[in-house]
Amino acid sequence: MKPIVSVRDLTVSFHGERAVHAVNGVSLDVMPGEVLGLLGESGSGKSVTLRALMRLLPKKRTRIGGSIEVAGQDVLAMRDDQLSNMRGKVVSMIFQEPALALDPVYTIGEQIAESVVRHEGKSMKEGKERALEMLERVRIPSAKRRLDAYPHEMSGGMRQRAMIALALACKPKILLADEPTTALDATVQIQILLLLRELQAEMDMSVIFVTHDLGVAVEICDRVAVMYAGEVAETGTLAQLVRDPRHPYAQGLLSSTVLGATRGEKLTTIPGAPPSLSTPPQACSFEPRCRFAVASCAAKRPPAVALGERRAARCIHAERTADEKIATLEAETA
Ligand SMILES: Nc1ncnc2c1ncn2[C@@H]1O[C@H](COP(=O)(O)OP(=O)(O)OP(=O)(O)O)[C@@H](O)[C@H]1O
Ligand SMILES: [Mg+2]
Repeated sequence: MKPIVSVRDLTVSFHGERAVHAVNGVSLDVMPGEVLGLLGESGSGKSVTLRALMRLLPKKRTRIGGSIEVAGQDVLAMRDDQLSNMRGKVVSMIFQEPALALDPVYTIGEQIAESVVRHEGKSMKEGKERALEMLERVRIPSAKRRLDAYPHEMSGGMRQRAMIALALACKPKILLADEPTTALDATVQIQILLLLRELQAEMDMSVIFVTHDLGVAVEICDRVAVMYAGEVAETGTLAQLVRDPRHPYAQGLLSSTVLGATRGEKLTTIPGAPPSLSTPPQACSFEPRCRFAVASCAAKRPPAVALGERRAARCIHAERTADEKIATLEAETA
């Protein structure tokens, strides 16, 4: 099987008053029907990576390198008209804040219908029919009445459902979800996650799901890529990452959640702060915070070490498990 999304050595930097090297050599693959979680703390480059996939970055100040292939097409070579055809039809995006995707001056029904008219060449009447079908599909109560509602007339959870209905109206092959449940309270959050998982399976969509919450990733993802300072620190299946994380940052992320506690670890947070992004990384970006760091970590950027099929970690110690690394450390300090 061929990946439907294939990102190779993606770099994104912004050149305003000061330079920000937000994404530094990210490679990712997503297979058809697969849900990939993009994890990592604030500022690690998750949203910028997603936006690069849709080419939704400020044109003038942004430099993009590497390659992005979506459904067999070279996204970085697309013209504006090709991009508009792709967005909403091949790839759709949903956000933490529905206000970013929904237009306040049109009703929900009009917005969904308009997208169907534009991408599928259907009539407005057919578009409205699809809108009703979609609102029912995302289980908005009294869907028929809600067609004529404006975004501000709906609750947060309902707006989120409406945004999902809009994003999925033209049956995209790929859904990019940027923390779509973070702003919602816990019960609504789980309902939306279950709904997304159900729609994903039903429509056999590929999803890239951004979250900083491992607990959320567990609910929805097949595979995960953990990002740190604009790089993919580690990638593997969700089970591999939870049971046997190999990058010290991924290990730290796990220890800071209840999932880590199930591995018999204490709940801890990682001391220190992520590096400045004003220059591209010359060394391991996690080195200043890493308790396993050795001299070469500060001297040279480590490669992504392959640990099996579609599994890698950007750490020179990647071949050793967390327990092995801790044992060595304890033996050295004893
Ligand atoms: N348009 C922009 N111009 C300049 N810098 C930007 C721009 N967009 C993002 N950045 C910077 O790029 C870095 C990565 O940002 P990004 O939004 O991808 O982080 P994130 O992982 O999504 O974080 P969060 O969890 O807070 O959403 C940050 O340092 C951010 O300030
Ligand atoms: Mg973000």
